[in-house]
Amino acid sequence: MLPAGYFTVKEHEFKKCRQSGFCVRQRAYSDLVDLKKEPTPYKILRETVSVQKDNGVLTCEVLNQLSNIKYNFKLEALENQTVRIRLEEKDPKKKQYASVGNFSLVEEPKSTPFKTYVKAKSETEFSILEFGKNAKMLLQENPLLLTLKVNEVSVFTFNEKGYLHYEHHREKATVKNSEEPALKNEDSPGMEEVLAEELSEKEKLEKELKEKLEFGMWEESFEGNTDSKKYGIPEHASSFNLKNTRGNDVAYSEPYRLYNFDVFEYILDSPMGLYGSIPFMMGHKKGNTVGMFWMNSAEMWVDIEREVELKTRAKQTVTHWSAESGILDLFVMLGPTPREVSSQYTSLTGKPALPQLFAIAYHQCRWNYNDEADVKEVNAKFDEYEIPYDVLWLDIEHTDGKKYFTWDEVKFPTPQEMQNNLAKTGRKMVTIIDPHLKKDDNYYVSKEAKALDLFVKNKDGGDFEGWCWPGNSQWLDYTDPKARKFWAEQFKFESYKGSTSSLYTWNDMNEPSVFSGPETTMPKDNIHYEGWEHRDVHNVYGMLQQRATFEGHLLRSSNLDRPFVLSRAFFLGTQRYGAIWTGDNFAKWDHMEASVPMLLTIGVSGVTFSGADVGGFFGNPDPLLLLRWYQLAAFQPFFRAHAHIDTKRREPWIFGEPYTTLIRNAIRSRYRILPYLYTLNFEANLHGWPVMRPMMYEFPEDYFVYDMGDQYMLGDTILVKAVVNETSPSVKVYLPQGKWYDYTEFNAIDRPKDGLINYDTPTDKIPIFLRGGSILTRRERMRRSSSLMKRDPYTFYIALDDLELASGKIYTDDGHTFNHLKGSYIYSEFEFKINGNSGKLSSKNLLVKEFGASKVTKNYFKNQDVDFGGRLERIVIFGFKKPNFKLVEVKVENKILSFKKEKNEVFVIKDPAVFIGEEWEISFKFE
Ligand code: NOJ
Repeated sequence: MLPAGYFTVKEHEFKKCRQSGFCVRQRAYSDLVDLKKEPTPYKILRETVSVQKDNGVLTCEVLNQLSNIKYNFKLEALENQTVRIRLEEKDPKKKQYASVGNFSLVEEPKSTPFKTYVKAKSETEFSILEFGKNAKMLLQENPLLLTLKVNEVSVFTFNEKGYLHYEHHREKATVKNSEEPALKNEDSPGMEEVLAEELSEKEKLEKELKEKLEFGMWEESFEGNTDSKKYGIPEHASSFNLKNTRGNDVAYSEPYRLYNFDVFEYILDSPMGLYGSIPFMMGHKKGNTVGMFWMNSAEMWVDIEREVELKTRAKQTVTHWSAESGILDLFVMLGPTPREVSSQYTSLTGKPALPQLFAIAYHQCRWNYNDEADVKEVNAKFDEYEIPYDVLWLDIEHTDGKKYFTWDEVKFPTPQEMQNNLAKTGRKMVTIIDPHLKKDDNYYVSKEAKALDLFVKNKDGGDFEGWCWPGNSQWLDYTDPKARKFWAEQFKFESYKGSTSSLYTWNDMNEPSVFSGPETTMPKDNIHYEGWEHRDVHNVYGMLQQRATFEGHLLRSSNLDRPFVLSRAFFLGTQRYGAIWTGDNFAKWDHMEASVPMLLTIGVSGVTFSGADVGGFFGNPDPLLLLRWYQLAAFQPFFRAHAHIDTKRREPWIFGEPYTTLIRNAIRSRYRILPYLYTLNFEANLHGWPVMRPMMYEFPEDYFVYDMGDQYMLGDTILVKAVVNETSPSVKVYLPQGKWYDYTEFNAIDRPKDGLINYDTPTDKIPIFLRGGSILTRRERMRRSSSLMKRDPYTFYIALDDLELASGKIYTDDGHTFNHLKGSYIYSEFEFKINGNSGKLSSKNLLVKEFGASKVTKNYFKNQDVDFGGRLERIVIFGFKKPNFKLVEVKVENKILSFKKEKNEVFVIKDPAVFIGEEWEISFKFE
């Protein structure tokens, strides 16, 4: 039985800004600033400024001239075109949480020297500090104002509008409105009556605003002379380009909220918080991309306001951020390209873990597969219908009374045998392991955790108790290193009875979801390790569970096997520990549509391995929706079908023909591109580039795509657009400048001047295009799972651009260990060129500096010293300019290769018998 009350959570049960004290006060402060047009009261105390040029650090004190409170201010030039801005109260009455960097940063960032430092002559002029590649900081002391410039273009301004408002801690009794207003649906947080008649409109407003004011944080703005777009701050079920929440043309009356929640039946097109929070934002305009994040794990609200600059008529976007607690610790990454921003950002917060090959294949999940017989049958059906799949998932019902790390002995009496049975065909199993632990003295995990005193405490110091799936439960305090170690140890094979090395983990409900708690989570005054309040660490909690699980996987395999952990909650740095998914969506067309901008946003915010429940979690999809979802998600990073316990079965064969064949084809299309996807995941691991990329990311100069969140690039080669309704026979797609090919037939698309085409979408395809100029590597032989394919040969798809050039890369390794770090990998680049009547396809090995030289470049197939294949069995080439082009000879060394011409001027060269990872040239002669 599900706990009463859980299934009634609705949007109105979550706080609005007007019900959150600090949000009200922050908004009121900025409104008041706008109204009064008075300068910010914050100024740098000139005599305190100290610059360590060689370390790239400026420190000083800042004074709030109204409250007389002093702050420590630190400005640092970091390596990789990054600036860190830190502001914290000098003598706080209560300590402010400032250590989330221990969790979010890979290491303490290194600074880089200032190249020049020119001190301002007076406090109203600018000091100039140059650093990095053509980057500079311009700092004005009074009022406090900071501008960052790259190549003389200002890309970021801090406190330009004077919204900075850092509330110092005060005792409750002396502060009006300092209590959080009760969670009720009222319009005002209890303001006093105003003597309206006696006041002018402006004064009235000012008085109102002042009354709303008590505490808040800071303001930042990116400014520029073109309309810069803003992306990021997941997770919201909203557009890719962030919408206005303040000023004119307001799309949302509420700011975007960042607070990890278990929102039941979340609504679309809303700024309300969801399961994860990443306080990262990307700003983009032609020629320039910047990124920033505020390293703080407390609740945040972010207002977005686009305004027109009167003199130039240009637009700029001001974003106004508030956090409930912690300090201001801001990082700005200066790009100037989206790729550079990703790489700078993930140098700080960590590169995405390289997933195992199986993890990027297809996953079959439902709440629940009922028992071992059910698992066996589902597994067998995949084979019967010749549909590949890699992982079968077990939800909460597999446990003994929702006690994680246990099995329901009646339904799952022989879990190891069950896993080994799947493993015979290279398949894995995932079990769900949630963070709430049943309060039960007979449950060994709870008992030991209690004995070790590892639970989160309530405000009175006792172990916090709340309601979740198992009934009364307790939560490990993952901010405590002892608790993380304890948790990691639970995954050892001797601890987790019934587990095998092919079992991986799903961490759900880790926002944390507490059915009996305020807004379905923990009370903010719960107490964590070292006495910090839950309010300080709320948003990092779930990530720390995923981290401890990840560490548990490493532990159980003695660091030999790459972990796979799926988490629902996420935060700054999550990418280091595994995948996330977008939680409980619906079996509805608009939810499938919404998955695209949601995943794009999550991807640019560093979490490159993400997906949405295929088919939709709640409700029953009709077969066409299910099919369209498969076709789309086959081209998204994490590909898992999942369904709520109350839904009807919907495995790929359930709806019969033609759907079984069409869904089979969609899943197979995923398996074909696994080599490409694996390469993209490797590039994510190396550089932080998203696997699923917004159009602006690949075409940063094309203004037309800046707002585009409904089509995307999978890597730099494949363009995808969803079919989002059942009726329209075609879909409008925008193809940026350049050459494009239909993915199924490799027909060159006749691109109109405006780039907009109508693409027919019969049930067997959605709009997918191959970018001219690329070489896509696929594996065409279908097997039961990805690991059975790992020695299979490859096929190249060479899609020529207008200059008849193409290039591509491939990365591969054994797909599951860390041996690549010791050189057991292949990273190769291929290039095709035409010169007059001859052409050349060449293969070159690339060095991955981080992994050392590749050990598998010479004769490795003869030695069989690596656990993966590399033979090229076919080359498909298309896009020659001249019609009726005649290919007369293809040769590798002295061997003539056979080839044929298919329809649409597509040439197929058979068995070139070369290997990726070796260097070679294939020559082409034409007439
Ligand atoms: C909520 C999760 O979002 C969903 O995927 C899962 O099936 C249920 N919890 C039950 O564990």
